[in-house]
Amino acid sequence: MPAGTGAAPGKVILFGEHAAVYGQPAIAVPVQQVAARALVRPLFNAPSGRIRIQAPEVGVDADLDQLDPQHPLAAAVRFTLEAMGVQHPLAVTIKVSSTIPVAAGLGSGAAVSVAIARALSGFLGHPLADERVSAVAFEVEKIHHGTPSGIDNTVITYNRPVYFIKGQPLQTFALGAPLNLVIADTGIPSPTKVTVGDVRSAWQAEPARYEALFAEIGTIAKAARRALERGELAELGQLMDQNHALLQQLDVSSPELDGLVASARAAGALGAKLSGGGRGGNMLALAAGDPAPLEAALRAAGASSTLHTVVA
Ligand code: MEV
Repeated sequence: MPAGTGAAPGKVILFGEHAAVYGQPAIAVPVQQVAARALVRPLFNAPSGRIRIQAPEVGVDADLDQLDPQHPLAAAVRFTLEAMGVQHPLAVTIKVSSTIPVAAGLGSGAAVSVAIARALSGFLGHPLADERVSAVAFEVEKIHHGTPSGIDNTVITYNRPVYFIKGQPLQTFALGAPLNLVIADTGIPSPTKVTVGDVRSAWQAEPARYEALFAEIGTIAKAARRALERGELAELGQLMDQNHALLQQLDVSSPELDGLVASARAAGALGAKLSGGGRGGNMLALAAGDPAPLEAALRAAGASSTLHTVVA
């Protein structure tokens, strides 16, 4: 029986993180330079229903039944089997690997779930359609991110730029000009669940103030879509700067993120902002031309790593 394989890219949020959770539009793009992969193979001489999960990078080598059902790898496998209506599959080994940094705002959790759903459903002979793959990843996100908007699983499953509004059908759009993005890591892990939970508590304490901030971010995301479609990169950079200022007001930035954002602008970026949950993880800068000097400036300013990606 042939093996089943699944892969999924990372992602960055260009506009609208956090406000997306409250129904505002947000824009995200896939990042092809990093990826999660899953490989499903038959496990010979084992009783049917036995599922061995191996993810050496996170120290997992266990049977599905031995893992906490809430464990993200176990949950991805269970939700995939549920989506397929399969209770006792052939015995298999599922091997998972990823080059997407964890807790860094690049969608590693959603990408691993998407890779597993694709590999396992493919191995079982009925590859799930994208809509259902995305739904599996969303169920896992709900366990680990509390109240996710669904943007991560959507952009990662469909692997193209998305204009995302929670609960609405997928909207994609064409870019008027390619984007040269530099992504720089603070090196500080920051689980999305924590920042999303903190924003929720702050919103509950001061709903009017936070809803006004979310609405302003939503207005920026709408303007950004127009700028992206028309290829107006200078305008886009300004909108990134404005979005970052609003994320500071949501209290999800940090001195390290602010420092990298300031360095990117000083090095000639058209705009820069934190990306994803914030507090740590990654920031994003829009390069005006050659990204190499921008990457060098960000590393000199303390970024633990940088990544250049072109979105076309
Ligand atoms: C995480 O990539 C983006 C957040 O807006 C959370 C979400 O939308 O689920 C912070």
